[in-house]
Amino acid sequence: MMDLAPNWKRLAGVALLALAVLPARGVEAADTHAGPTPVAEAKTQTQTKAETETETEEAAPTAAHEPAPGRAAVWRAIFARPAAPPQGAADDPAKIALGYDLFRDTRLSGGGATSCASCHDPARAFTDGRRTGQGPAGAGLSRNVPSLYNLAWATSFFWDGRAQTLAEQARGPILAENEMAGHFPAIAGRLEHDPAMMARFATVFPASKHIAEPEIVDALAAYERSLVSPMTRFDRWVAGDDGALGENEQRGFEIFVGKGGCISCHGGWRATDDGFHDVGVPGADLGRGAFDGPMKGLPQFKTPSLREAAHTAPYMHDGSLATLLDVVAHYAGGHVKRPSLAPTLVPDLTLDDAERADLVAFLKTMSSERGPGASADETTRPVLKK
Ligand code: HEC
Ligand code: HEC
Repeated sequence: MMDLAPNWKRLAGVALLALAVLPARGVEAADTHAGPTPVAEAKTQTQTKAETETETEEAAPTAAHEPAPGRAAVWRAIFARPAAPPQGAADDPAKIALGYDLFRDTRLSGGGATSCASCHDPARAFTDGRRTGQGPAGAGLSRNVPSLYNLAWATSFFWDGRAQTLAEQARGPILAENEMAGHFPAIAGRLEHDPAMMARFATVFPASKHIAEPEIVDALAAYERSLVSPMTRFDRWVAGDDGALGENEQRGFEIFVGKGGCISCHGGWRATDDGFHDVGVPGADLGRGAFDGPMKGLPQFKTPSLREAAHTAPYMHDGSLATLLDVVAHYAGGHVKRPSLAPTLVPDLTLDDAERADLVAFLKTMSSERGPGASADETTRPVLKK
């Protein structure tokens, strides 16, 4: 199935415009003015989507707090999960399994004690629960460890987007002195001493005579592309199950796509525009603004996906916000005001305690409910036939 990414922004634009120009006339009026075209298109896309789901699209309920049917269809199209990753769907299962094991292999580090999984713990949605990352011997990193889910769809990597591909990204932590302090010839030497590893590399990369950096980062990237966040209650609502969200969560959704303005950056099924913005997190780190370019000197960070966010605390590039309620308080008046703030951020947003609780309840519906402890990754390691 085609990726909805190119379309959701336009659909969101139409829906937001309709809501923005018709505030006094309410949701139903806005729905009418959204016109037949986006709604009809949304329905078609939702039906295509429904082929891969058990539920089919039907009229949404009409209780006061719930979206009117046509409007719900637009949102459902915007948030629909694609059927398959855009690239890498055809990755060789043996390569993914090799990447799975390399991700957990401390032989990739200079000190022999650190692996990717030391910081990206699968049981915490591939984060570490710390404010900022911690390297070997307690070396503190300056940024929060991001989740690794759904990166097959991402367009750049790191909080500042400085890596363009997953393979390029993987070199970073392996070589960084304060992360894995690895050295590729030494890593290759260690792996080549392991006959089982040699055999696996030979199977996955028949054209390569030796294990070297390109093969190692290629296998790691293939494994990372296979990490797709689990289905959630929000996905069930998106697929047409009107009862999947409670009333408080539906009210939170209305804030997310309405007065909160969260949708303008956190739209699409991953809840990110893959863009860079200043949302007013205090601190000296400029993120992407440290690079050359039009934004040089102004703070800019990548919009994180909100998938599995219930399991990735603390939040923001510096891990400065401990809970989702703290994040909501940040947007509702708690952020720093400065000229570089994103123009799409709702200025002077006010949310009372009940609205804050509803918004947090909604955010949690984009996370799976199995919770930390269950090893989510076991489901993604390909089982290979001997
Ligand atoms: C010492 C802790 C640590 C280790 C070990 C580590 N990482 Fe990370 N990782 C981080 C931190 C911190 C960031 C964010 C850094 C930044 O944005 O500047 C990050 C960012 C990433 C990202 C970018 C995600 C995104 O959304 O942009 C990917 C992908 C990633 N790491 C993969 C890996 C892989 C693969 C390995 C092993 C080769 C690894 N990491 C080892 C701490 C670690
Ligand atoms: C202008 C774009 C924009 C808008 C609007 C926006 N966000 Fe964000 N969001 C971001 C960016 C960028 C970050 C990362 C900021 C940083 O680390 O400095 C972020 C971070 C977050 C995080 C932390 C995720 C993590 O893994 O650390 C959450 C949760 C979040 N936003 C929720 C919301 C909610 C709820 C709203 C609406 C009230 C909202 N956002 C509005 C761009 C936006």
